[in-house]
Amino acid sequence: MIAFPRTELAQQVAAALQGQALLGDAHNGLFLAAPRRTGKSTFLQSDLKPLLEVCGVAVVYVDLWADPHRDPGALIADAIGRALEPQLGLVARAAKKAGVDKVSLAGWLQVDTTRIGKLDGLTLVDALRALHETSGKPIALIIDEAQHALTSEDGEAAMTSLKSARDQLNRPGEVRLMLVMSGSDRDKLIRLVNSNAAPFFGSQVQRMPPLGPDFIAHVASLIESQRPSLIPVDQAALHQAFEAFGHRPQFFMAALGQVLSPLANLSGRFEPALLQAASDRQRDDEAQMEADFLGLKPVEQVVLWRMLDQGPRFRPYDAEALRFYGDLLAQPMTVPTVQRALESLRQRMPALVWKSARGEYAVEDASMHRWFQARRAAGTWPPVPQEVLAMQTA
Ligand SMILES: Nc1ncnc2c1ncn2[C@@H]1O[C@H](COP(=O)(O)OP(=O)(O)OP(=O)(O)O)[C@@H](O)[C@H]1O
Ligand SMILES: [Mg+2]
Repeated sequence: MIAFPRTELAQQVAAALQGQALLGDAHNGLFLAAPRRTGKSTFLQSDLKPLLEVCGVAVVYVDLWADPHRDPGALIADAIGRALEPQLGLVARAAKKAGVDKVSLAGWLQVDTTRIGKLDGLTLVDALRALHETSGKPIALIIDEAQHALTSEDGEAAMTSLKSARDQLNRPGEVRLMLVMSGSDRDKLIRLVNSNAAPFFGSQVQRMPPLGPDFIAHVASLIESQRPSLIPVDQAALHQAFEAFGHRPQFFMAALGQVLSPLANLSGRFEPALLQAASDRQRDDEAQMEADFLGLKPVEQVVLWRMLDQGPRFRPYDAEALRFYGDLLAQPMTVPTVQRALESLRQRMPALVWKSARGEYAVEDASMHRWFQARRAAGTWPPVPQEVLAMQTA
């Protein structure tokens, strides 16, 4: 299926970014969090970017996860460089026609776009200014998985430069640099805005809404047009299944494809089978987290437990945390042991733990928090290995 267009959301976001909304602070930067696979990148690239371009904005999009081996700061610099390149070509042609000295922008002709953000090159602030002046347009810089910038010092420095670029370029009533940062983990994204030392102190992280009833209605009408015998499709059931799939269109559409396939050999309606597929998926996801948890060493388990329990308040080495580990393991814990456990949680493939350049830790996958809370509420925390369970019930 081609992506379902989210025009209305894009319009609201675009207006807010351009400072046209009556209230709000998006012109100072928009921070959008939504869980993994819920359509952030698709929205940013297929809905927001084209709409902003129609509004006469030059858009630079960069995904900091696109290449995890490269420094986030370099990725941002490259993206700006790539956007600047064609503009410099235009300036060069204009300059040639008019005679270089008549063009005020002739200075930009010397710019080496590959050196942006490097010590001997243009700073990010200058590069953004160059892009603004050569294109004659306001700039929107969209940084996907922005929390990744916090994992390196260069990345952090890049964020600080962007803040400074925003403050230098923007004036009240005139937004020349719009910043959009998205991420799959609210707790991590918050680190960009939450303290005095954070680059975007004062901004809020907002939840990017998941696809909703209009998406479900669209899917229902697709089914009805292809399979008239299924009219009317039960949209409430479709919506319930979509929720159970964690609002993740990919899994939802795949399951729909399966239950609607002639090979599925369904005798009755497809909706119950879809709901079943959704709850199977939930069970599989939870089983995977349980297996991951049980596969850890005891020290790693208690450190992860503490992290899940404390969320953003997690401090790995404070006295209370050490007591927590020690009590559970029935032996005193030292800081180096905890350090090693954190490092191995971070080095695992896939990583279970995320670390910022300032030494703050968080679980890599925020959905683990939901799993932890659900189990805790159900009284089934911590997970117990099957053998032990069998012994307990024998
Ligand atoms: N508007 C949409 N209509 C239909 N399918 C969509 C839509 N948005 C996203 N999807 C599908 O959902 C999946 C995830 O989308 P996307 O990569 O945009 O999500 P994401 O939140 O950026 O994921 P990640 O956390 O992995 O970066 C993709 O398979 C995509 O095709
Ligand atoms: Mg994405």
